[in-house]
Amino acid sequence: MKVLFASSEVWPLIKTGGLGDVAYSLPQALHQQGIDIRIILPAYRDVLQQFDSFKILGWLALNIAGKTRSVRILEVSHDKFALPILLVDCQCLFDRAGNPYTHADGYDWPDNAERFVLFSQAVAQLAMDELKLGWKADVVHSSDWQTGLVSAFLDNKVDRPKRVFTIHNLAYGGYFSHEEYSRLQLPAEWWSAEGAEFYGNLSMLKAGIVYSDVITTVSPSYAEEICTPAFGYGLEGVLSHRSYKLSGILNGIDTDVWDPQSDPLIPYHYSDKRRNPGKQQNKRALLEANGVEVTKDNLVAPLLGMVSRLVEQKGVDMIIEIIPQLLKWTQANFVFIGKGHPHFEAQLLQLNEQYPERVMVTIGYSEEKAHLLEAGSDLFLMPSRFEPCGLNQLYSLRYGTLPIVHRTGGLADTVVDAKLKAGSKTALIETATGFVFDTATSDELLKAITRALFVFTQKKQWNQLQRTAMQQDFGWEKSALEYIKLYVGRTEE
Ligand code: ADP
Ligand code: GLC
Repeated sequence: MKVLFASSEVWPLIKTGGLGDVAYSLPQALHQQGIDIRIILPAYRDVLQQFDSFKILGWLALNIAGKTRSVRILEVSHDKFALPILLVDCQCLFDRAGNPYTHADGYDWPDNAERFVLFSQAVAQLAMDELKLGWKADVVHSSDWQTGLVSAFLDNKVDRPKRVFTIHNLAYGGYFSHEEYSRLQLPAEWWSAEGAEFYGNLSMLKAGIVYSDVITTVSPSYAEEICTPAFGYGLEGVLSHRSYKLSGILNGIDTDVWDPQSDPLIPYHYSDKRRNPGKQQNKRALLEANGVEVTKDNLVAPLLGMVSRLVEQKGVDMIIEIIPQLLKWTQANFVFIGKGHPHFEAQLLQLNEQYPERVMVTIGYSEEKAHLLEAGSDLFLMPSRFEPCGLNQLYSLRYGTLPIVHRTGGLADTVVDAKLKAGSKTALIETATGFVFDTATSDELLKAITRALFVFTQKKQWNQLQRTAMQQDFGWEKSALEYIKLYVGRTEE
């Protein structure tokens, strides 16, 4: 079976969030199951610069905004990938500094509609083997709004591949104006309530939902949540009408990249059976890396970490609100690495200025620091208001850094709350792996943190939780098999 896997980001080539991780590790897992899979992404400048050489597979002529653009399709190989990587090379749209979606100042690229229309069109043509490479896809698997139009471009093709679309985050709809739609000269038949039109705009995400044969999202709970007004962003009706082809498949993690026994980005290795001294030494290294003098006190005090895009989804505002109280009432210290909304960045930096020894803050993106934070913290904060799947709580579990999470989406599906066993005053249920709270408010978060800090002082309970957390299996194999079932399954109309 031939699968073309399209994504706007793929770790380690380019990544802004969890989509990048999934677009790396899921195709590899599918490849290991014998699927003939190719990954395709735009040839952003940062990606191309990583390769000394590439093979030109050919040129596609793409019609967009009344012009025909000649776009090169490149093939590159990379030692981290056991499968071919294809790049859609259109210099005027992708050869620029900055991130895949935004300018360095954080604003969206003004031509994002054109960039991802062109990318999606190229993916659709390659899936149909219009370059005559002798490789026609049986399945084209796309993700999120950036590739939503792939399925639309294939809609009127005879003998087209099966179109699988995964929603990683419904909050990003890929909305563009009707003016832009007309300027790009997109097919008139897409502009309808049954098509890609959404309240007077184009929604590329909706196009993915409407025109695909199979829709998935990244956890079973989120698949249910998005069919309700609270999480559906107005698309709940569109989705619930299609619930017969919608399912939730939990993301896995790359257990080689995220392995406390061998992670090259952490100074000390450890395992579920022998957590210390390794974990404790990483805590020391983490404090030192943040310029904090290590003392007996801060080494034994609980250290709460967070690695995150700093956006409302992640509930970072709730944490910021309660930090002053926690600093006053407890010994807890905090360590953050994140990038995002300037307002949250400024608030965190201010806390750091006020409490330099207790609130450590790095504004920016660093894989190395993220790994050290996972290894060196005691608890991980992830009070997301919604979370399609979430990967950081999974990395945290694997690193014995107990997650504190809101019961939503993938967080609800992957973290088991440290409840007391029925009838016991001290023993926790055996499956517990972290701390889960029910309502996304700072009060509830504060209660969950207080509960976690108490358990931190109960060494027997704490050890049990850490061991159970580290023993969870979040590898990709099971989920990859579920995707394969969907790839080969009959398409229902
Ligand atoms: P989302 O995709 O919504 O951002 P996930 O938990 O699925 O959330 O994935 C986030 C990924 O991005 C994780 O691999 C996390 O380690 C990484 N990440 C987020 N922010 C940073 C940062 N500032 N530095 C390094 N890695 C980060
Ligand atoms: C999105 C979601 C996150 C998910 C990731 C990978 O960015 O916000 O919850 O883990 O995609 O699927």
